[in-house]
Amino acid sequence: MSVAENLRPSGAAEASVLIDGATYDLPIRKGTIGPDVIDINSLYQDTGCFTYDPGFTSTASCESKITFIDGDEGILLYRGYPIDQLAEYGSFVETCYLLLYGELPTREQYKAFDSRIVKHTMVHEQMTRFYTGFRRDAHPMAVMVGVVGALSAFYHDSIDIKDPEQRDIASIRMIAKMPTIAAMAYKYSIGQPFVYPRNELTYSANFLHMCFAVPCEEYKVDPVLARAMDRIFILHADHEQNASTSTVRLAGSSGANPFACISAGIACLWGPAHGGANEAALMMLQQIGSVDRIPEFIKRAKDKSDPFRLMGFGHRVYKNYDPRAKIMQKTCHEVLDAVGLGNDPILQVALELERIALSDDYFIQKKLYPNIDFYSGITLKALGFPTDMFTVLFAIARTVGWIAQWKEMIEDPMHRIGRPRQLYTGATERAYVATEAR
Ligand code: ACO
Repeated sequence: MSVAENLRPSGAAEASVLIDGATYDLPIRKGTIGPDVIDINSLYQDTGCFTYDPGFTSTASCESKITFIDGDEGILLYRGYPIDQLAEYGSFVETCYLLLYGELPTREQYKAFDSRIVKHTMVHEQMTRFYTGFRRDAHPMAVMVGVVGALSAFYHDSIDIKDPEQRDIASIRMIAKMPTIAAMAYKYSIGQPFVYPRNELTYSANFLHMCFAVPCEEYKVDPVLARAMDRIFILHADHEQNASTSTVRLAGSSGANPFACISAGIACLWGPAHGGANEAALMMLQQIGSVDRIPEFIKRAKDKSDPFRLMGFGHRVYKNYDPRAKIMQKTCHEVLDAVGLGNDPILQVALELERIALSDDYFIQKKLYPNIDFYSGITLKALGFPTDMFTVLFAIARTVGWIAQWKEMIEDPMHRIGRPRQLYTGATERAYVATEAR
């Protein structure tokens, strides 16, 4: 059954809109949980009007069965499973299977899926030449956009999106190759040789190995750090129709090849309002520097004439504690303990800042709680990553979400090319004026 069929209007529920004295009835569709939607699909045809919703704050752009968020309650579910349970008991590869295929894998399904991922971790050897075309000081996200887009030039057998098998191979390839491509971007930026994947390692351990091993000495991945990396990947794997996911869906709606669509998603994620906030949160904590300076910064955050905001606080959707932030805080403690930074002054600043903000009227009234980015910057730094790699790690994790959403869209028989409308406020028609007459 298609998503559309499952969400046929319930019959009784209808909304009405009154335009120039005429009333138009619009069906209300019900999801399994979450707000109902008013189906305005025929509004333009019936009334000649568009709706206006910049930033899509009240618009459901699609039907989906993948991820559910209740921002008021602080709930995040992947295919119905709470994020905290997946992060506590599951693995990232298992989460990939769940997001892609809708169910948690059996033992056999997991084994087969994992071995397919493992077999695709290497990239075409010629791709290494792409990297040398970039300046060493290029931002790794710039490299990611270029190299991921270039995958379509290498894997011709997985770009026919009408073929389910090719769609599946493209999905596996992207999940498998993304850590390799990201680690190569990192190695190139620091002038070290590329490290090939080691397929006996887990997905996350393999990624740490490709980032931090060097050919001249043995590198053993710390299992605590590998588990933390895995959990960070799970937390970032999907987040329903956010900006980068909507970008991937929109790009894919034209029938564009999947690698190019993911590259578009990476470009969107790169923006500081999306994937770049963890870097900003870390910089703010470093700027505060010590616990005794916190009141000064809290005061600034409340001051309307000061543009300063507490980075890592507040969220467009979560008006409660971001459920991912709780797990990230725990992961942060584990990583800092493992690397001997348990008493790191920046962590002490973060903990105290969180405590003070959560008991402060300004933050309580505006429902400003720590978001995932508040603790992820400190954690990633402790794992050994420079700040410009933070968004790259986010891109590795989000790749599966992007692909699952892209696949869902392609497989929905109702899908059409995405084409938003506009409220035009420019000049009305006027005649061309010759240069000498202007
Ligand atoms: N510090 C201080 N005050 C804040 C903060 C903050 N971090 N966030 C919001 N406010 C205040 C605003 O000043 C505003 O006050 P007002 O009503 O008196 O004007 C009110 O809370 C609402 O703020 P908006 O910006 O309208 O809320 P919105 O939901 O649009 O914004 C956002 C959410 C952009 C995340 C915002 O909270 C923010 O800038 N936070 C800091 C940046 C950050 O951490 N971003 C990461 C988001 S998570 C992610 O992308 C993965």
